[in-house]
Amino acid sequence: MLLAFTDEGAGPVVVLLHGFPLSRTMWSAQIGELSRSFRVIAPDLRGHGESPAPDAVYTMEQMAEDVVELLDGLGVTEPVVVGGLSMGGYVALALALKHPGRIRGLILADTRAAADSPEAARQREETAGAVLRAGHAGVLVEAMLPKLFAASTIRERPAVVAPMRAAMEATSASGVAGALRGMAGRPDRREELKSIAAPTLVAVGDQDVVSPPDEAKAIAEALPNARLAVIPGAGHLAPYENPEAFNAAALEFLRSLS
Ligand code: MLT
Repeated sequence: MLLAFTDEGAGPVVVLLHGFPLSRTMWSAQIGELSRSFRVIAPDLRGHGESPAPDAVYTMEQMAEDVVELLDGLGVTEPVVVGGLSMGGYVALALALKHPGRIRGLILADTRAAADSPEAARQREETAGAVLRAGHAGVLVEAMLPKLFAASTIRERPAVVAPMRAAMEATSASGVAGALRGMAGRPDRREELKSIAAPTLVAVGDQDVVSPPDEAKAIAEALPNARLAVIPGAGHLAPYENPEAFNAAALEFLRSLS
């Protein structure tokens, strides 16, 4: 599948994979800052942003293959750093496990290694059905938006929240349903973490209620070569909510690889 993407800067490649149901627009502050020293490639994953949204279940493995296809299409054959937020992190893990030779480093932001509980998977299926019946992402947006940000961001920074609301609202019903069903079926990766040799930065907002700091800490501890950065004043969208702190941690990590 041909994905829409942004490709900025020159140097070692950093691929950034957005969360659900967002788009590459969530990385604008990282694209601006990191592209001064790196080549930043940020796709819209299938079903999101400007990429096609087929009626299908989007497994994390399939989305990882889309990213590999994009890199191949761009002639990027050297190992790259892949950063992913939440669903983007599930995809980054799938990519790292299937194609370890393509990975120079990982940034796992506000994400999880565990699978959905049966109840969470059932709820996703219910939401997928509701969104498909409505023909738009509305019900999901209202339920999910308050959980994405720190409470103070919701209260005091409406201009920060608005673009992510718009990105969510723009995601098609088929895109939402495809990703929800793919996430519901994703495997538990916790046992596999120890086989990931790539240096990894695990980053998490200190107020993330979707993938809380304790889970990030457990991921960092299970990986053979990881460091943890807790991003202050941020919820589930730490890179977007506090780009200064996230970019500082990311740049320090990226520079440590060269
Ligand atoms: C995301 O931000 O990508 C989602 O919260 C992931 C999920 O629903 O598991």
